[in-house]
Amino acid sequence: MHNDIEKIYVSENEINDMLNRLGKEITNDYKDRNPLIIGLLKGCLPFMSDLVKKLDFPLTLNYIKASSYQGIESTGFITIEGKVPDVKGRDVIVIDDILDTGRTLDSIRRVLVEHGANSVELCVLLDKPEGRKFDIHAKYVGGPVPNEFVVGYGLDYNEHYRNLPYIGVLKPRVYQK
Ligand code: XMP
Repeated sequence: MHNDIEKIYVSENEINDMLNRLGKEITNDYKDRNPLIIGLLKGCLPFMSDLVKKLDFPLTLNYIKASSYQGIESTGFITIEGKVPDVKGRDVIVIDDILDTGRTLDSIRRVLVEHGANSVELCVLLDKPEGRKFDIHAKYVGGPVPNEFVVGYGLDYNEHYRNLPYIGVLKPRVYQK
């Protein structure tokens, strides 16, 4: 697995620093608001699991399964599987691995507002500002990455590499297999 990585963009230590900073920011803003934290499966998994351990105040967790990517290109639309969590009157924080075009989080945010959320903020580990096609802003961002396809710490290539503890770029030969 590690041999398939050409370059590491965000190391394990850097991810830890991001988690500590985001934990402080979110705690500061939400400690008395009993927020509902909604993760977008499956990319949110390692990030969400590590981040919520930095939030030492009452909150509840839920998930939405949404998808827009297959391989390394967008399929151009969003699908939500199953029921949307009950968000009526709640202060919601949506957690995802990466904000790229913004299509996914823009659609999810709209759906949650339509379902009666009191507020919706977005939290992503990574931001790819050059990929943006939708006018959307995440309040909580770990850090930026260049406009390249990255894997690791939740991000996959055809469902692999989510378990890498860092963020990296794959060697071109991996795509040629
Ligand atoms: P959008 O374009 O909707 O993308 O902001 C959000 C979702 O697309 C996936 N995505 C990536 N997945 N490496 C990945 O493994 C990437 O560089 C990448 N860019 C976008 C990801 O699932 C994200 O939730």
